[in-house]
Amino acid sequence: MFNKLSFSLSILIVCMAIPLQAVEDPNRFNRLFVPEAANPPLEQDGIHDPSGGGIGTLQQPSAAFEKLDKSKSDNHVNWVKALETKKISPRFDLDDASLEPMPLDLNIVREVKGSMPNVIYPHKQHTVWLDCSNCHPAIFVAQKGANRITMAEIIMGKKCGVCHGRVAFGVTECLRCHSGTVKSDAEGVELNTDSNK
Ligand code: HEC
Ligand code: HEC
Ligand code: HEC
Repeated sequence: MFNKLSFSLSILIVCMAIPLQAVEDPNRFNRLFVPEAANPPLEQDGIHDPSGGGIGTLQQPSAAFEKLDKSKSDNHVNWVKALETKKISPRFDLDDASLEPMPLDLNIVREVKGSMPNVIYPHKQHTVWLDCSNCHPAIFVAQKGANRITMAEIIMGKKCGVCHGRVAFGVTECLRCHSGTVKSDAEGVELNTDSNK
């Protein structure tokens, strides 16, 4: 069942990534944080064929997302909150409607050298949608501190960036990942000496 799930998730991720790439680089970094229009009409999104007869039967994203919790980037939906507040209830398995996720409530704190708050990686918010095998072992070895992760890799679409910036919220929402405490010099942490660990 897990194999089937990760297979369908890979298909989903591939399907979402390919058409987007045709429009623009999914990991393009909006360096100046310029506000961008979200959710263009289907006819103008570069994904759907505007001359296709069926396009009028589809619900427009702006209408579908209207009542969902808001975020500041990408499609402007906070999918974590939308799930928590039960405004959406996606099926965990495409074929078997009776399967439920088995969330793992385990936070991993990644200390960040420099002035950004630490990254708190929450297993819970991931495992309500994803299977362990979506990340372990191909993207991350399942051992705290065993993986070297940098912001540059994330922006280039590796590590957390395999999903974030493609199918999950993007890098501009800094504090959703950097949600821990800021260390100070007084705590004996050198600032900005080695960003790569
Ligand atoms: C979205 C990606 C992702 C998913 C899905 C995921 N994990 Fe992890 N897991 C991580 C990351 C990131 C770390 C931290 C690795 C590090 O610090 O180098 C981690 C660490 C771990 C660790 C090590 C904990 C420790 O204290 O050393 C275990 C055990 C683990 N995960 C088990 C699981 C299990 C079981 C599941 C499924 C229920 C799961 N993970 C799903 C990303 C994920
Ligand atoms: C998807 C989650 C995520 C988002 C969003 C994110 N970061 Fe990070 N960031 C990380 C992780 C993970 C690390 C690596 C931490 C470690 O050393 O283990 C990191 C590391 C860093 C570092 C340390 C140096 C480096 O390059 O690795 C800085 C500085 C940083 N982030 C700044 C930012 C800023 C500024 C933003 C917003 C523009 C941002 N981050 C958005 C997850 C994220
Ligand atoms: C396999 C895909 C995948 C990977 C890899 C992944 N994430 Fe996520 N992440 C998601 C999805 C899907 C969500 C929930 C939907 C959304 O928020 O867009 C999520 C949600 C989160 C949240 C919850 C935010 C909130 O508002 O509660 C945090 C924090 C987060 N991710 C950080 C990370 C960090 C840090 C890494 C790397 C160590 C990482 N993620 C790697 C897919 C992934």
